[in-house]
Amino acid sequence: MQRTLAIIKPDGVSAGHIGKVIAHIEREGLRIAAMRMEHLTKGEAEGFYDVHRDKPFFPSLVSFMTEGPCVLLVLEGENAIERWRKLMGATDPAKAEPGTIRREMGTNIERNVVHGSDAPGTAAFEVGYFFRGCEIHY
Ligand code: CMP
Repeated sequence: MQRTLAIIKPDGVSAGHIGKVIAHIEREGLRIAAMRMEHLTKGEAEGFYDVHRDKPFFPSLVSFMTEGPCVLLVLEGENAIERWRKLMGATDPAKAEPGTIRREMGTNIERNVVHGSDAPGTAAFEVGYFFRGCEIHY
């Protein structure tokens, strides 16, 4: 059993894609162990994407992630990290496989609707960044 952090980003929320993204998750058989809607502060977005702090796209990414509310989720299941990444598709929607969330709903490499942890260590950090243990339902 593995956990991963998923985010429906502000572009996905404002475009009315919350239900469609959750339908992908449930169809795949991943369990939603926690879920919360939150408008991230600048500091929260900067801390979350700290590994990208030196990238040229960092200021724009932080601005995008704080432009409106996100939906934060903890997904649970066998091999959850890889299964959620497969549902999302490649970071750049133009390069994502047909049928993936980013291909179907994404705009560009930044405004790509969803986020997912990329490895077990990252997932542990990211889940803990947004959720306390007592907010995660077994
Ligand atoms: P995500 O999977 O959340 O991880 C980092 C985010 O930065 C990524 O999705 C995109 O939203 C954004 N991103 C990654 N690469 C680029 C890029 N080259 N230009 C702009 N934004 C990017």
